[in-house]
Amino acid sequence: MQIVRGKKIETLYDAGQIAKRNEELASQIAAGPTNDLLVIAVLKGSFIFAADLTRALHAAGLAPEVEFITLSSYGAGTVSQGVKVIKDIDSDVHGRDILLIDDILESGRTLSYAKELMYERGARNVTIAVLLDKREKRKTDLEADYVGFECPDHFVVGYGMDVAYAFRELPFVGVVTGDAE
Ligand code: IMP
Ligand code: MG
Repeated sequence: MQIVRGKKIETLYDAGQIAKRNEELASQIAAGPTNDLLVIAVLKGSFIFAADLTRALHAAGLAPEVEFITLSSYGAGTVSQGVKVIKDIDSDVHGRDILLIDDILESGRTLSYAKELMYERGARNVTIAVLLDKREKRKTDLEADYVGFECPDHFVVGYGMDVAYAFRELPFVGVVTGDAE
């Protein structure tokens, strides 16, 4: 347990486990479709995972191009939710293999939207890598092709993931369990 910003944070996956898993994911990705590979990090929560995974891709023998997209969901709770592009990629995806990288696959709405968008733009193949899979929260039939770890239904922080922009700097994935006395 660590105390950061007055909150107790329990480690769910530590830096060593994550680093090892990134190497495994990179070898799986290298064995998949990588024709003119374009890696697209879905900001913001994926920034550290994407940074580590893309370096692991190099170690696995790949030489992808790397891009960034910022997506945001609108609507909340039980009302129907949509996804919109806040900041788009600059690259043409036509005829290319695309790897979308995100932090967490939850309802699946964000990544379903992103995958569909890349196919509409003429991508040859679109695969998805996520650090964490919150399977019980799925509201679509989307599955990720590459999953780091299963994630219990807790709000997690660290390794890029935040609560109101905080805790992104933690080198591990943690759960906020309460206030420090
Ligand atoms: P969904 O799959 O469209 O529901 O969106 C999942 C997105 O919600 C992730 O990419 C995160 O940005 C965010 N998210 C979901 N659960 C958590 C969490 O536990 N911590 C931080 N962000 C989360
Ligand atoms: Mg996200």
